[in-house]
Amino acid sequence: MDFKTIFAISGSLRLGSSNHAILEALGKMMPTNINYSIYNGLSEIPAFNPGLDNESPPASVAALRKLLAGADGIIICTPEYAYGVPGALKNALDWMVSSASFSGKPTALITASTGGETAHETMIKILGAIDADLIEEATLLISFVRTKIDGDGSIIDSETAEKLRKVFDALIKKIKPPLNLPL
Ligand SMILES: Cc1cc2nc3c(=O)[nH]c(=O)nc-3n(C[C@H](O)[C@H](O)[C@H](O)COP(=O)(O)O)c2cc1C
Repeated sequence: MDFKTIFAISGSLRLGSSNHAILEALGKMMPTNINYSIYNGLSEIPAFNPGLDNESPPASVAALRKLLAGADGIIICTPEYAYGVPGALKNALDWMVSSASFSGKPTALITASTGGETAHETMIKILGAIDADLIEEATLLISFVRTKIDGDGSIIDSETAEKLRKVFDALIKKIKPPLNLPL
């Protein structure tokens, strides 16, 4: 069976995170020929140091680069903190500049936050800087996110659920899983 791989990163490290719940909800939409995983190593990435960004970077950085290299598609789902991209996520992305790990990779971006406009716009710029193939139809801002997800992580707002389905469809269309297999 020919599989495609989608690698997802949440910008929130919080237990019970709405961003993580959104990534879980997207995971439930994945067809069986998609290997889908949500990264859980963001807190292990050391502070970016250009002096260590050489042929033998820290092990956690090398591991993340390898996961990204093996991905056919990437999803980033992040909140906004203090009108910015969460530090842990931005830090990891800084390590991905020189490796070109995002270069040409079909990428979906969801910013799910109380407001989130600033982080969303910044993330679009960051993904442009690292040459990700950001899919316009797979770019979504979800404001007031905590009113749209219940305590079990289910999406309770039908409009949000519909928009997430469109994000999913746009990403899947872009990475083109084998047509002979059921989606
Ligand atoms: C320290 C801190 C700063 C925050 N700053 C912002 C902000 O600037 N803009 C915003 O939209 N939400 C802000 N929030 C609210 C988060 O968007 C909200 O807690 C969100 O649910 C976090 O995502 P998560 O549920 O995936 O952890 C902030 C939250 C914290 C804890």
